[in-house]
Amino acid sequence: MKIIHTITDLKKLLQPHRQKGKTIGFVPTMGALHEGHATLVRRCVEENELCVVSIFVNPTQFNNQEDLRLYPRTPEKDYALLERTGVDIVFAPSVEEMYPESDTRIFDFGLLDKVMEGAFRPGHFNGVAQVVSKLFTSVEPHKAYFGEKDFQQLAIVREMVKQLALPVEIVGVPIVREQDGLAMSSRNQRLSVSQREHAPEIYRVLRESTLLTGEQSPDQLVRFVTGTINNVPDLHVEYFGIVDGDSLQPVSTWQDSESIIGAIAVYCGDVRLIDNIRYR
Ligand code: PAF
Repeated sequence: MKIIHTITDLKKLLQPHRQKGKTIGFVPTMGALHEGHATLVRRCVEENELCVVSIFVNPTQFNNQEDLRLYPRTPEKDYALLERTGVDIVFAPSVEEMYPESDTRIFDFGLLDKVMEGAFRPGHFNGVAQVVSKLFTSVEPHKAYFGEKDFQQLAIVREMVKQLALPVEIVGVPIVREQDGLAMSSRNQRLSVSQREHAPEIYRVLRESTLLTGEQSPDQLVRFVTGTINNVPDLHVEYFGIVDGDSLQPVSTWQDSESIIGAIAVYCGDVRLIDNIRYR
């Protein structure tokens, strides 16, 4: 496995493989890797002749500087996991390499980034689009893999690829959970013992809500999920939306769409966790 820090070296290394017509798969990450990332990487290794993983904590997608400062950084552990998983190339650039000058591009995602994460983290998805588009033009992968935990990010990346007409196939990979149901996240490491005990209630309540769609409207279920989770110690719901799986706009009846998702952000102490569940 090669660890590369500059775009020039990365392109040089990829060039002969590209010329031979090898398929290149790509998994962008911010490091602090866990089993959720390993699942994306295994899929990438299986489906492509060459697998590239990036590790870059992207400052432009953090609207909270404290969150950026506290974001876990575990490069040596990450490299070991990637080596074990069969990755060919790790791209780990510096901030100066990715942003030699500030990126002033503003993307227009219409209503897609006006709801949920986009509403509570202004500028977040613009930062994601900036970095993912730069990574895509550096790696030029045939396929790129993203976790469905970040459901809205996946929708934004698909839209960005469409708008920029990038020749890459975006693959969504299902959420990987701990045994008790908590969605795997790098942020879970920051939970205290008591917070870690209470955090699985998020998914338990989401699952319970899927059994209630016959008797409750989407609005009623939003109140049920929010109220039930807010009653759990350490947990405070920031938002819970029941939305169309493509447009991400709220639905008012279960007949509004063939694809309906419940997406949630919950503060567990001061750690912000997200999760989602499919209703249809
Ligand atoms: O999901 C993430 O880890 C990040 O948002 C991504 C896609 C690597 C961009 O920085």
